[in-house]
Amino acid sequence: MKIDTDVVIIGSGIAALQAARVLSQKFDVHIVTKANITNGSSYKAQGGIAAVTSSDDFTSLHIQDTLDAGEHHHSTENVEALVEKGKDAITQLINDQFSVDRKEDGGISLGLEGAHSKPRIIHSGGDATGKALVDHLIEKLPQNVIVHEYELAYELLLNTSGECIGVKTKANADEKIYFASYVILATGGAGAIYSCTSNCSDSYGDGIALAFLAGAKIADMEFVQFHPSLLYIDGKSKGLVSEAVRGAGGYFVDESGRKVMEGVHPLGDLAPRHITAYEMYKEREKGNEVYIDISQIVDFEKKFPTITKLCEENGISISHKRIPIAPGSHFLMGGVVADCFGHTSIPRLLAVGEVACTGVHGANRLASNSLLEGITFGRLMAENLLKYGTKQKNFQQIQTNRRTNSLELLPAHTVQNEMLAHAGILRDREGLNRLVKILPTHEQYFTIDLSKLTRKKIELIFMHISSTLVATSALTRKESRGAHIRKDYPLKDDYWKKKWVVFEKGKLNV
Ligand code: SIN
Repeated sequence: MKIDTDVVIIGSGIAALQAARVLSQKFDVHIVTKANITNGSSYKAQGGIAAVTSSDDFTSLHIQDTLDAGEHHHSTENVEALVEKGKDAITQLINDQFSVDRKEDGGISLGLEGAHSKPRIIHSGGDATGKALVDHLIEKLPQNVIVHEYELAYELLLNTSGECIGVKTKANADEKIYFASYVILATGGAGAIYSCTSNCSDSYGDGIALAFLAGAKIADMEFVQFHPSLLYIDGKSKGLVSEAVRGAGGYFVDESGRKVMEGVHPLGDLAPRHITAYEMYKEREKGNEVYIDISQIVDFEKKFPTITKLCEENGISISHKRIPIAPGSHFLMGGVVADCFGHTSIPRLLAVGEVACTGVHGANRLASNSLLEGITFGRLMAENLLKYGTKQKNFQQIQTNRRTNSLELLPAHTVQNEMLAHAGILRDREGLNRLVKILPTHEQYFTIDLSKLTRKKIELIFMHISSTLVATSALTRKESRGAHIRKDYPLKDDYWKKKWVVFEKGKLNV
């Protein structure tokens, strides 16, 4: 089946929905999403949206907090755009009837999260901000936005001028080709390449793999943020326990009740996430169980209904005032290189949200800056595209020379366990070399003809691609910065401060 349209968006999280809403003013939009529209990491987001809304907060402080948390490996210009334009994006959402939690006096109730110098986290439904925002944006979708669920995008199409002209998808047994003036990647991150994650179980970095195979520039893949507190029972992660819980007075303890973060960092339990996650990792490596003590939080169930439900569904009673936790993969700072208008290195291919690497998160994202990124850059990108509006003319497709349909792949759970063991919170050359050896090389992926394969097999290949990119990049960066912690290079090195490990046209470039 062939579909000609203006814009195809791959993915259906907040960045995708926000962009679709704006683009629909002028364009017909098709959203292609590989599962149910609400099955993304956006929907699971608990914490909220970081933005400057109170009179005693300033954009300069939010910018500084972002840079400090990410250890200054940023595009400062894009951080400024995020924080400053983010204020307008929030105002517009609120004016559009997005309901945020408020105090008794009617002012916006602002939460505190790790590494923020001010309470500035806007939330909705207590700890269900992602769900509230996705539901709100879905409700606002106009009729010229058509959503295709359970459809996997597997190949980007380029024309003879090197522009992106469309995408091939598989919907059950059906093959589809979309030809479009613009293709937007909004597929989120790759948390599920690890066996312990807060992400959806199919977050394999599909958009990054698609862009990589099309030759786009990919960077910063070594920077994978681990969240310090996933609900952890019988050796398995069950979902997130938001940092907002610690913002409201919760703290990390071990079995004996010792406060784990005491004396570790001036911000204690609200230290930047790579610090708290590393401490939890070290405790668990020593054989200690770790918990969040919630005894000081009044009305926990009312403030955190999603977490209360999650705990109860998993047999943890809130009345015991302790939630068992472990760190797990949460957010990818790297991805498809894009500017704050979504432009990638391939003309007419755009990327927005977690799939994109705009340099706004540096080496470790500041809490609640991701929903902010989705609503802000989703809007900025779409408004910018409205200005162009030119229809694509050259649909003469270039043919790739991919013939093989076999590649030695590992089972998904083996990749996840190996990635957690060797490219998780603490890395070293030996472990990363092992990964690079057991995974296909980045060059090998270019021999495969995906059209012959099942959806399941394609997703397995995407997961392998993301893993290869993370492992190879982590091996290349010989320093520790933010979420990238090397046992064999424990210090920050100024040489690497602003350097990106990049893949372009499938080749590694530093
Ligand atoms: C959280 O609620 O702790 C996660 C929010 C985020 O990742 O920014």
